[in-house]
Amino acid sequence: MNKNTLVAAQSNLEINGFLNIELDPTLDLFAEIERLKKEKNAVILAHYYQEPDIQDVADYIGDSLGLAQQAEKTTADMIVFAGVHFMAETAKILNPSKKVVIPDLKAGCSLSDSCPPPLFKKFKEQHPDHVVVSYINCSAGIKALSDVIVTSSNAKVVVESFPKDQKIIFAPDKNLGAYINKVTGRNMLLWNGACMVHEIFSLEKITKLKVRHPHAKLIAHPECEDPILRIADFIGSTTGLLKYSQTDSSQEYIVATETGILHQMMKASPNKTFIPAPPNNSCACNDCPHMKRNTLEKIYLCMEYETPAIEMDEALRLEAKKPIDRMLEISAKAGL
Ligand code: 13P
Ligand code: SF4
Repeated sequence: MNKNTLVAAQSNLEINGFLNIELDPTLDLFAEIERLKKEKNAVILAHYYQEPDIQDVADYIGDSLGLAQQAEKTTADMIVFAGVHFMAETAKILNPSKKVVIPDLKAGCSLSDSCPPPLFKKFKEQHPDHVVVSYINCSAGIKALSDVIVTSSNAKVVVESFPKDQKIIFAPDKNLGAYINKVTGRNMLLWNGACMVHEIFSLEKITKLKVRHPHAKLIAHPECEDPILRIADFIGSTTGLLKYSQTDSSQEYIVATETGILHQMMKASPNKTFIPAPPNNSCACNDCPHMKRNTLEKIYLCMEYETPAIEMDEALRLEAKKPIDRMLEISAKAGL
């Protein structure tokens, strides 16, 4: 590629959020990505909701807690974050001196978007006697307004680290918050946010599917709505669901979370059957459109040209880091 093309591509980046460069279709992207990893001392961290090809080139695949822990301890010079913006931003908060690139800057999150910092700040000011516990699926601005961050795999432990009578605001996911209220017996005040993927599952269709597959277990992510969680045989983070599917003795599972996780489930247990839980309409709405903005081509391009990179204001970063550090400390003490 000549310099002019790259400059043109980079100005395009501001509009599209990724390097819109046409690649030679004969390029072996798997080999090129491996070459770039070595040349640039880069590590690819991928969430389970990424497409299978991306999972296959990743150095680490995990849930939000695992990804944050890996981001904190990596010795790589460049972190390639195959996930959504809040995840890459968390990696940058933990590693300000490292280059953190994301294949598509527009890979957002409906849950994070449901909680704008100015509105949340006002809400928080109305409840000065509450501490703020925020799900990691939020912007740095919300993290900076929080006392501690949680993920779906440590939310119970973190909430239980507060005295029983401590008043708590939980943001932004009302479904995870309601589930944690239920399992801890707390009465946290919930911000009214939800994930567009996890609130789409149809109770009626899942119930019919269970009749047709009487031996199948329903396994669900706690971002799902209460009626789905009530009939679930197991509830857990993406890593929790994957581990359960490996250790449990059933042969068939209905999986109520984003479909990307099925790739690792099928790899780990090739003789078991995994059925994606059906959404309440005919589209493939349990594919997260944000996660699926990332492609293998975009992974290659962001590594080659080291852009789009996550940049952030230092004062905001320092404020956002405090509640993440607190979460990591509590998790480590709990052996998570
Ligand atoms: P976990 O992988 O932490 O369970 O989170 C799921 C999710 O929705 C990430 O966006
Ligand atoms: Fe956000 Fe939901 Fe997509 Fe996760 S699956 S990134 S919570 S929109």
